[in-house]
Amino acid sequence: MTKIIAVTNQKGGVGKTTTCTGLCGGLAELGKKVLAIDLDPQGNLSFSLGVEVEDNFTIYDVMKGNCDIGDAIIHGDICDVVPSNILLSGLELEMTGVGREYVLREQIGYVKKDYDYIILDTPPALSVLTINAYTASDELIIPMLCEVLSLQGIAQLRQTIFAVKRYYNKQLTVRGILLNKYNPRLTLTKEVEELAQMIADQLDTTIFKTKISASVSIAEAPAHGESIITYAPNCRAAKEYKSFIKELISPPAKESKPEKIQKKQKSSGDGK
Ligand SMILES: Nc1ncnc2c1ncn2[C@@H]1O[C@H](COP(=O)(O)OP(=O)(O)O)[C@@H](O)[C@H]1O
Ligand SMILES: [Mg+2]
Repeated sequence: MTKIIAVTNQKGGVGKTTTCTGLCGGLAELGKKVLAIDLDPQGNLSFSLGVEVEDNFTIYDVMKGNCDIGDAIIHGDICDVVPSNILLSGLELEMTGVGREYVLREQIGYVKKDYDYIILDTPPALSVLTINAYTASDELIIPMLCEVLSLQGIAQLRQTIFAVKRYYNKQLTVRGILLNKYNPRLTLTKEVEELAQMIADQLDTTIFKTKISASVSIAEAPAHGESIITYAPNCRAAKEYKSFIKELISPPAKESKPEKIQKKQKSSGDGK
């Protein structure tokens, strides 16, 4: 079954696009059919995945109803991509119709069967595009920097996620928080990790066991139109991304189940 995952955090520069590129590269290397959808007007994902937009349709056209999503797909070297461009920045004001939250979900429905994973990169805002991404997704991944400032704004993020769950997409789950630019030797990192755990609790989720270190290769890879997985396969960050993907594609641990079974056995035992 196709899994649709949005990488989200309304803060810029936390590693959303980097995470999407790493995910697409790593999943493609495992032989998965991957579609990347760039929902950020800056078009960083399209660039990082090495696709040239030129006069191709973009996600802007898809959202505006100028074309179907299939017409906007570019077959890139790493994976298929629905690119973005700067026109997308005006979309918020242009999308006013009833049902505007569901446009992306409906469009993804047309091509879903062709892919194992659909990865959505989101803009640094809680906008109509973000709501569309959450409405269309099965799971959210939240990258977060190990800095105190990265904790600001989490309350709004939480509100948005819970509102989408309530009104548009009951199935949505927060799969986990991915700590980025992680350095276990810094005291601050430990403090942030503790706070991140509190945030994870508030969002009904966990922190991924795998953390991503700061890495020069991560910063270099986009200029080569490659994911970290192929650009520097032996570097630490590439290995971390692979282990993150392993964690992601294995079913999430259901911690509460054994407890429930125990309780049931206990109560049925008591009844005898
Ligand atoms: N783990 C990392 N190590 C080094 N540089 C990183 C790392 N993660 C992200 N970066 C760099 O930080 C900048 C912001 O990352 P990006 O993925 O574009 O964030 P966002 O999409 O959340 O705005 C980019 O220049 C990227 O190359
Ligand atoms: Mg980005």
